[in-house]
Amino acid sequence: MTSCDLVFSGARVIDGQGSASRFIDVVVDRERIVDLGDCRHWQADTIIDASGLALAPGFIDSHTHDDLAIFKSPDVEFKISQGVTTVIAGNCGLSLAPLIPADTMPAPFPLLGEPQEFCFPTVKDYRAALSRNPAAVNLALLAGHSSLRLGSMPDRLEHTADTDALQQMQQDLRLALQQGCIGLSTGLDYPPAASASTDEVIQLASVLPEFKNSVFATHMRDEGDRVLEAIEETLVIGKRAQVPVIISHHKCAGPNNYGRSRQTLELIDQARSENQPVSFDVYPYIASSTSLLPRFIENCEAVMVAESKPHPECNGKILEQIAADWKCSPEQACERLYPASAIYFQMDESDLQRIMAHPGAMIGSDGIASMQTPHPRLWGTFPRVLGHYVRQKKLFDLETAVHKMTGLTASRFGLENRGSIEIGNYADLVLFDPQTIIDRASFENPTQISDGIVSVWVNGKLGWHENLPGGARSGIFLSH
Ligand code: ZN
Ligand code: CU
Repeated sequence: MTSCDLVFSGARVIDGQGSASRFIDVVVDRERIVDLGDCRHWQADTIIDASGLALAPGFIDSHTHDDLAIFKSPDVEFKISQGVTTVIAGNCGLSLAPLIPADTMPAPFPLLGEPQEFCFPTVKDYRAALSRNPAAVNLALLAGHSSLRLGSMPDRLEHTADTDALQQMQQDLRLALQQGCIGLSTGLDYPPAASASTDEVIQLASVLPEFKNSVFATHMRDEGDRVLEAIEETLVIGKRAQVPVIISHHKCAGPNNYGRSRQTLELIDQARSENQPVSFDVYPYIASSTSLLPRFIENCEAVMVAESKPHPECNGKILEQIAADWKCSPEQACERLYPASAIYFQMDESDLQRIMAHPGAMIGSDGIASMQTPHPRLWGTFPRVLGHYVRQKKLFDLETAVHKMTGLTASRFGLENRGSIEIGNYADLVLFDPQTIIDRASFENPTQISDGIVSVWVNGKLGWHENLPGGARSGIFLSH
């Protein structure tokens, strides 16, 4: 008999690659999966009788802003309680590293943290800090275009980059990739990058193919009336820079655009049929959330204030109502509430379902941990897909859902030996009850732990058990 740390017996094992579940044993020793199948010949320190439960690869949150949250809340309850074992940070053009902060940080940087918390000029610094203060989940980082812009052209953000600034950004991006970033993200819809030309992004993204498996993830220039043009621009960037594209939090925002996902997905399918690597992430809600800016409030059915620094008494209130109480326009109310963040109800349920069901869709929360009243996606995304959309709505089967949270994501982001239950892979695992799993976080009560997640292991260590942190902060920084 060979000895090992852990044997799971009797679980419905979902491999993360989309194949049918199997009832097999899974053996873990130290940080790896070492055997599968009939494993009675192993002498285990711990045997977990997992009958009636599902065992899946730990979920990979393909879209996060956890760059700083991972230090502030190293148990990362809001993610690990959902079964998440890896987060991809640095999205939407905003990365905590490499970042040289300006005197006043433009929106949406305040979503990441306070100015004095921006203290990682290089990815090397960030990585060192994380290995000194490890967290409960793994983290992989994208370098943010807006962060790079702040470093190379802080006084010219409202222009496109000139040759010098571009060269500086290319150099900084190269260094970030050498030091472990897995790609570049952009946020062309946000003030610090809205003036960047398509060409600026192409030139910068052209650095990516120098590094194996690097990706281009983009919060596109427009997600509303001009979403089709934005997808076209994204596809051009991917093609010209020769880099795989990941469209962030894909949606068709605003009542004018309800139903348009038929066209957006057709464009994406067209590119995929021509062998251009294109995928996207999506969260399972019909409301978005970001900084509260006047230009974001058009095209919404309702806007709820998530957190206002000068007017905390307005947190959780509807903007229209605040404006009525203050006898001003909603735009004026925005200005008075700023710095603030908000939740925007601006999507259609059938678009959401069509987008999630697409084979290119990965699940990503886009949750923002710094908010007082966060969007419920921060705590509820993954159980919501498995409970609401799989069990209740039958939008797709459990194996497909898990694939969208694990194997697909690992392969799209080039994360090796993660995202599937295979011999030799890291033991990032989640044990859950497919009959009861459901999100409990709501817009009214957004920080609730979900039901149905039993235990979570990260690199072979117990990180979450029966609704409490498991004590191990065994997450590591992942690079290519
Ligand atoms: Zn975004
Ligand atoms: Cu985002």
